[in-house]
Amino acid sequence: MSLDGRVAIISGATGGLGRVVARRLADAGASLVLLGTDAARLDALASSLALSPDRHLSSVADLRLPDAAAAAADAAVERFGRLDVLAHLVGGYAGGSPLVSTDAEVVRDMLEQHVWTTFHLVRAVVPRMIAGGWGRVVAVSPTTVGSPGTNGAAYTAAKAAQDALLVSLARELKETGVTANLLVVRAIDADDAGKAGWATPDELSAAILYLCSDAASLINGARIPLTG
Ligand SMILES: NC(=O)c1ccc[n+]([C@@H]2O[C@H](COP(=O)([O-])OP(=O)(O)OC[C@H]3O[C@@H](n4cnc5c(N)ncnc54)[C@H](OP(=O)(O)O)[C@@H]3O)[C@@H](O)[C@H]2O)c1
Repeated sequence: MSLDGRVAIISGATGGLGRVVARRLADAGASLVLLGTDAARLDALASSLALSPDRHLSSVADLRLPDAAAAAADAAVERFGRLDVLAHLVGGYAGGSPLVSTDAEVVRDMLEQHVWTTFHLVRAVVPRMIAGGWGRVVAVSPTTVGSPGTNGAAYTAAKAAQDALLVSLARELKETGVTANLLVVRAIDADDAGKAGWATPDELSAAILYLCSDAASLINGARIPLTG
């Protein structure tokens, strides 16, 4: 499956999944825009990918801030002249307490991490995709969005709101050539420990590559379970 000539923004590129997605999209031929909050981790990732300088750009960006998302998108367009893929993989979890003893700060943090990063990035990136007549947005959601458990309300609410933003976006993208989809996991088996029903980064990155391909042009607004 080729992404030759495509430009992919990977937010959360230095995370457990982001690093594997970066490798997979690079191997498929995409040029990469790697976003994270830590320059040293971004440098280490860029070195490990061993891409030629004309095929990647790293930007430090706290994506909770609208200006940071806009600046990262501007820098990417200035460098590559186009934006085709957004793999939005910013992570972060806070939980462990019942809702009645959860600090408001924790709820605020989770909303910033998952809702505002999504909102700011979509607003910065998707209009350029629409203008180009082609684009792919992909994010990863937990199964608890559809079936909340205990002691994780702030995280689950934030990821549910992220889902709602992206499915709404998908509906609004009809006939534009741009799609937005979610992969749904119980959890990511980052260490390949063989946990039943958990998705490995390899499995997720293969699904993300497919959703980013021309072959997936009719898949839009889907919440696709990778749960076994
Ligand atoms: N892990 C799971 O079991 C699981 C389950 C369901 C859904 N998901 C979703 O799957 C995706 C990938 O998860 P993961 O486990 O690979 O995440 P992760 O390892 O926790 O990685 C988090 C990434 O997000 C970046 N990040 C954090 N705050 C940021 C901010 N304010 N601005 C920009 N970047 C920020 C981090 O960058 P720096 O390190 O540079 O700060 C890092 O690259 C996430 O969207 C997550 O919600 C994960």
